[in-house]
Amino acid sequence: MDSLQDLVDHCWQTVRTAPPDGRQVSYIPALARVPADQLGIAVAGVDGSMVTAGDSSTPFSLQSISKLFALCEALSAGPEQLWARLDKEPSGDRFDSLMLLEHEAGRPRNPFINAGALLVTDHLRTVRGDAAEVVLELVRREAGNAGIAVDEEVAASERAMSHRNAALAHYMASCGTVDPDVPAVLDQYTRMCAVAASCEDMAKAALFLARAGQGVDGPVLSAAETRRVNALMLTCGLYDAAGDFAYRVGLPGKSGVGGGVLAVVPGQCVVAVWSPRLDARGNSVGGVRLLEELVRHTDWSVF
Ligand code: DON
Repeated sequence: MDSLQDLVDHCWQTVRTAPPDGRQVSYIPALARVPADQLGIAVAGVDGSMVTAGDSSTPFSLQSISKLFALCEALSAGPEQLWARLDKEPSGDRFDSLMLLEHEAGRPRNPFINAGALLVTDHLRTVRGDAAEVVLELVRREAGNAGIAVDEEVAASERAMSHRNAALAHYMASCGTVDPDVPAVLDQYTRMCAVAASCEDMAKAALFLARAGQGVDGPVLSAAETRRVNALMLTCGLYDAAGDFAYRVGLPGKSGVGGGVLAVVPGQCVVAVWSPRLDARGNSVGGVRLLEELVRHTDWSVF
């Protein structure tokens, strides 16, 4: 293939011609209405380049991808305070599982499962202010797109059905690990998850993770902290499919039930893919397949 554009077009076409199976989540009704057969990819290079194919400029619901930006903001406000409250281990369990939390006295395994992200939301409320606003500010600035916003319909749709997350947050509050104002934590968490942005926005917004923490106007994180975030993405970013993703793609990644997946190629680029159909673990079938295809033709895997 002559150029990265040719390669991206080829990989997009390959996945496009074998449409993925899978379906959208039903517990966020507004997401179930998104047309399922869309497929987008954007590759943002550390040199400022941008290569795209398909539905790369269509906004999608970030969902758990927002947890990555929330984590970065919480770390930039002081990693010790945050790590005093949660762990860094893969859970090997569903992203919304209640089981481990009881075993571990309300201390979440990692910041990407829902329990951990609810705790990060609570932490941000204390150290920075409204978590959804903090995430919005970061992604708008890094993507250079002031139009990125919360999709209030998606937020309301999830909030009305957030019984599982409420159970997680109430359990943590009962253990004293999360603030007792659970409704406030849930409101900010669901609005943060409902931020809508395109693959192009996402690839640019996360580019600091491929650039040793360097954002558009200065460091978002230190180089050491950036390495650690990438390590957490690799081990925990795709929940109980983190092993499969490491095997097939071999890059730090973060998925969301909106169908997006971000993958970081340290020192080179960030790839954002989006395709709404999900597998049983809540990860984009077409998105992961597209990343797998791309890595098969490049030396991008970290292994
Ligand atoms: O809290 C939830 O269940 C959703 N707002 C986010 C879950 C999610 O995106 C899991 N990722 N694949």
